[in-house]
Amino acid sequence: MVTTPNSPRIRIFDTTLRDGEQSPGCSMTPPQKLVMARALAELGVDIIETGFPASSQSDREAMTLIGRELRQTTLAVLSRCLATDIETSAKALEAAAHPRLHLFLSTSPLHREHKLRMSREQVLESVHKHVSLARGYVDDVEFSAEDATRTEEDFLIEVARVAVAAGATTINLPDTVGFTTPEEIRGMFQRVIAGVAQGCASGVAAGRGSSHQVPDSDRIIFSAHCHNDLGLAVANSLAAIEGGARQVECTINGIGERAGNCSLEEIAMVLKVRNAFYEEDTRINTPRIVSTSQLLQRLVGMPVQRNKAIVGANAFAHESGIHQHGMLRHRGTYEIMRPEDVGWESSQMVLGRHSGRAAVEQRLRALGFCLYEEELKHVFEQFKALCEQQRVVTDADLQVLMQGSATQN
Ligand code: KIV
Ligand code: ZN
Repeated sequence: MVTTPNSPRIRIFDTTLRDGEQSPGCSMTPPQKLVMARALAELGVDIIETGFPASSQSDREAMTLIGRELRQTTLAVLSRCLATDIETSAKALEAAAHPRLHLFLSTSPLHREHKLRMSREQVLESVHKHVSLARGYVDDVEFSAEDATRTEEDFLIEVARVAVAAGATTINLPDTVGFTTPEEIRGMFQRVIAGVAQGCASGVAAGRGSSHQVPDSDRIIFSAHCHNDLGLAVANSLAAIEGGARQVECTINGIGERAGNCSLEEIAMVLKVRNAFYEEDTRINTPRIVSTSQLLQRLVGMPVQRNKAIVGANAFAHESGIHQHGMLRHRGTYEIMRPEDVGWESSQMVLGRHSGRAAVEQRLRALGFCLYEEELKHVFEQFKALCEQQRVVTDADLQVLMQGSATQN
């Protein structure tokens, strides 16, 4: 399917192997990154960010390994606005069939003053110089205004215009420290996109001796990259889409710096489950979500919590009697998506203290026991007694209960 940048398809830019890998305890070897990259390509992500080549030999090796094998997916690497970084990144990208160079520079006053010690003018000059340099190597250049959500909006628009004029094809506005709120980020995207379009229309963007034509603003993809410090990364990414973002940067299981990044499985499923509301969709092959999540958990040795949306062990498990009863009548009563659609085999009826007779009876039937009313009443009493001693009653426990009741009868 051919889609134009105006179509409502959301590009999924997966940064599990770069921002995700930056989370404490999640580093991966090049062969591990290759295994993960294969899974991400099968999952249907549009862009895989493989690493930060200037930061390590291991990331350079990973990029080469992945580039040689994955010839269909766009492969990106991160680079600071430094000529040496850009050269190293461009070299690493030689292995890629569809290379993207991803440049970043902080734009917020806090970062300009304390981290970069650069003025606004110096930031603009650096953006222009380095995006132009990157375009000398590849056609697909993304520019990220680090800490965009804490940047003065007039300056952010200026930075984006300069990056576009220098040849950037994707403009990413990261919520680097997970500080924004949905309402705020929606408005920010709307205004920055309008500001860049206005600049393109009036030719403002082409300043600074740019060798590029004034770009057609419709061809620029705006991207959201949200961190989860306040638990809002997915909500903020959705709001950014409402504001006009057409690319979302995310990671499997939401791994990433500090509290992590927007979780790929959650944003993809929101867009799918609520597609009557969001007309945007992704190319994610959702039945592969759980296996990809489990692969990452094994590779980095970081299990997700049981109640994690979509991929946690409890995401489709029901224990309370009222819920189990509802589910037995119609699964839509307590499930908003089918477990099979994200790669689970089925929902789970967990038998425990909160379970009712209907669920116990159904489980016994599945195990081959069809009981008369009186027998069921008796076994259910024993089941309740067992629940006082243990949290979960397994199939094996039910078999033992049934043996016990057979010897009593
Ligand atoms: O969070 C951030 O700002 C980043 C950029 C480097 C894209 O990860
Ligand atoms: Zn980040």
